[in-house]
Amino acid sequence: MNRWVDDLFELLRFPSVSTESRHKEDVERCAEWIAARISAAGLDGSVHFTPGHPVVLARNEHRDGRPNVLLYGHYDVQPVDPLELWESPPFEPEVRDGKIWARGATDNKGQFFAHLCGIAETMEEKGDLPVNLTILLEGEEEIGSPNLRPFLEAHRDELKCDVVVVSDTGMVAPGVPTLGYGLRGIACCEFTVRGPSRDLHSGVYGGTVANPAAAIAHLLASLHDAGGRVLIDGFYDDVRDLEDWERTMWKGVPGMAAQDLLEVTGAPQLHGEAGYSPAERLWARPTAEVNGMGGGYQGEGSKTVLPAQAFAKLSFRLVPDQDPIDILKKAGRHLEAHCPEGVTLEIKRGHHGMPYAADPHTGFGKAAQEALRKTFSADPVLIREGGSIPIVQDFKEVLGADTLLLGLALPDCRIHSPNENFLMENFVAGIRLNRILLEELAAKPA
Ligand code: BES
Ligand code: ZN
Repeated sequence: MNRWVDDLFELLRFPSVSTESRHKEDVERCAEWIAARISAAGLDGSVHFTPGHPVVLARNEHRDGRPNVLLYGHYDVQPVDPLELWESPPFEPEVRDGKIWARGATDNKGQFFAHLCGIAETMEEKGDLPVNLTILLEGEEEIGSPNLRPFLEAHRDELKCDVVVVSDTGMVAPGVPTLGYGLRGIACCEFTVRGPSRDLHSGVYGGTVANPAAAIAHLLASLHDAGGRVLIDGFYDDVRDLEDWERTMWKGVPGMAAQDLLEVTGAPQLHGEAGYSPAERLWARPTAEVNGMGGGYQGEGSKTVLPAQAFAKLSFRLVPDQDPIDILKKAGRHLEAHCPEGVTLEIKRGHHGMPYAADPHTGFGKAAQEALRKTFSADPVLIREGGSIPIVQDFKEVLGADTLLLGLALPDCRIHSPNENFLMENFVAGIRLNRILLEELAAKPA
């Protein structure tokens, strides 16, 4: 284990932040390091350059009669800000309280590296794996995977597979094995409201020209009713209803009671669409979120100013069968229709990805459940996820394969936040999970 933890620490030291251009070389060095590590384990690792960050590919020798399994993960990480809130520096991993603390510890380096360690162990012991394995690790997941679909299309034959395995999602509670069979999609946009040509004295001009910051507040307030339902025309048109078996199954899922969510979020009260439980709201209902807003004076004390402009950033989480482009069009129409007079509105579309849902009761789904049961000595729960991994629906469309989401992230792992951490126990479990999973997939093809 010490050897694997040392290796993981090396991986965590790369500041592979995909969204910040100053880290471009760190991202590349990280890809090279991973490819070398996989090659050392006996699989043929290679780095493939794209118009953005590189893709790492590797495979064992493929033989007839075994299932083709694609293992996907991402080695890019989210930015670390606000840096001052970290208890130890984000790219200097350390172990405290049985957890590994670093940016990327859970999302996603620790999770995919557990699989790589499992593979390395099996290769060391047996010289081969029980399945035909292809490993695909990208460096752009956190920015919406802009170059991965074209890469899949260009390497369609090489990547062809029967099933995809991903550990980049959550466990509902510690020790509760969790198989994800769905993900929300995402559609991002930002908009700027402009008024006067410069910030004005709010006494000299206030009351004669419209205030862009007030216009932003008005626009954002127009998105929801008091109960949290989205008011954009047609927003819910294509939302697929929850299945009865899902409603029943999710009722008993641990970790999803109001009290659990209050504890893990630190929010004073839960909030959301009426008529749905927290699990249903998170996993099967779409949302409109304000990710950021700004404009006007932000400094100490007051400054009597009427700002020249203000902005807001939005993301919509989507569920089957909503289409991100359709939602962005509807959102654009809504904002234009609700924009107050006296200001101009500019909307920019951001990245987007499709929602995903599969049947967890197929042969491979059952094999995954069995592997989780054996790894954690407990019955797995079946959930959809609130987060997004946009490429998963592309795997379905381009490679024709469904994805098994074997999450190892815990509710308090703080992904995307300061003090991200990965429970050491889950790292160890992830190694075991890989070994058992490949055996189960080999034994139970669909
Ligand atoms: N690992 C997460 C996705 C995730 C986390 C799914 C927890 C389910 C539970 C992934 O790295 C992520 O953060 N995805 C982004 C995608 C976006 C930037 C396109 C997300 O969901 O915000
Ligand atoms: Zn992430």
